[in-house]
Amino acid sequence: MIKIDSNKLPRHIAIIMDGNGRWAQKHTIGRIRGHRKGAQAVRTVVRACREIGVKYLTLFAFSIENWERPEKEVQALMLLLEEYLIKEIDELQEQGIRLTTIGDIDRLHPQVREKLLQVKESTLKNDKMILNLALSYGGKDEIIRAVKKIIEENKNGKIDINEINKETFSNYLYTCGIPDPDLLIRTSGEYRISNFMLWQTAYTELYFTEVLWPDFTRDDLFKAIASYQKRERRFGLTSEQLKEKSFPN
Ligand code: FPP
Repeated sequence: MIKIDSNKLPRHIAIIMDGNGRWAQKHTIGRIRGHRKGAQAVRTVVRACREIGVKYLTLFAFSIENWERPEKEVQALMLLLEEYLIKEIDELQEQGIRLTTIGDIDRLHPQVREKLLQVKESTLKNDKMILNLALSYGGKDEIIRAVKKIIEENKNGKIDINEINKETFSNYLYTCGIPDPDLLIRTSGEYRISNFMLWQTAYTELYFTEVLWPDFTRDDLFKAIASYQKRERRFGLTSEQLKEKSFPN
């Protein structure tokens, strides 16, 4: 049993769930069955985060680049997402979990988008935890979209160029209102950010594990949190300065 300190929990955990394909290959089954097993790991991690009191969990479920995958795989991922929403809605409600999304959800298949909007709407008032799904999401695209919105608002006289700073810029991102991740986990032994939350992870603690996403367990999550809890987050300051200041965890 891995010990974690409930007083030093990351407020926001983000996960790049990688390795479904390799897990399937290892078990000599099709990639889609790997994704299906990956969806089970999603359930485990959502439950565990809710149970220990993590407030925000962002999962990279479908990147903008994933649209280039074979049509059959894209279809299967869409179906899996829809199935997940249908199956999990009751539990999300019972557990007080609000569902939000980041990314260009207008590109999702209409049926999936409808279901998503429905679940987002019906969980709107839940306040125990936010489950934030990154869907059709790309970090660079998010930043470009924010810049375009700012230019537009500047043209309409809604924002003055001198008002743009780190805080106001953040309000134009998909993640507006959501604190930056404290901990980013990537599974499957890849050491990349892959266009995920580029702006938001400036001071995020990174944790990489060899475990393939479908094999990722509660204990693996706790290991990542325990590793995070051993670190000193300095945000560019010295250790001495930190002692005089207080940061969220
Ligand atoms: C990366 O593995 C994973 C994805 C592209 C999709 C993630 C989707 C799920 C975990 C299941 C559905 C999600 C929800 C929220 C219900 P990969 O296919 O790139 O693996 P590989 O690198 O081993 O090929």
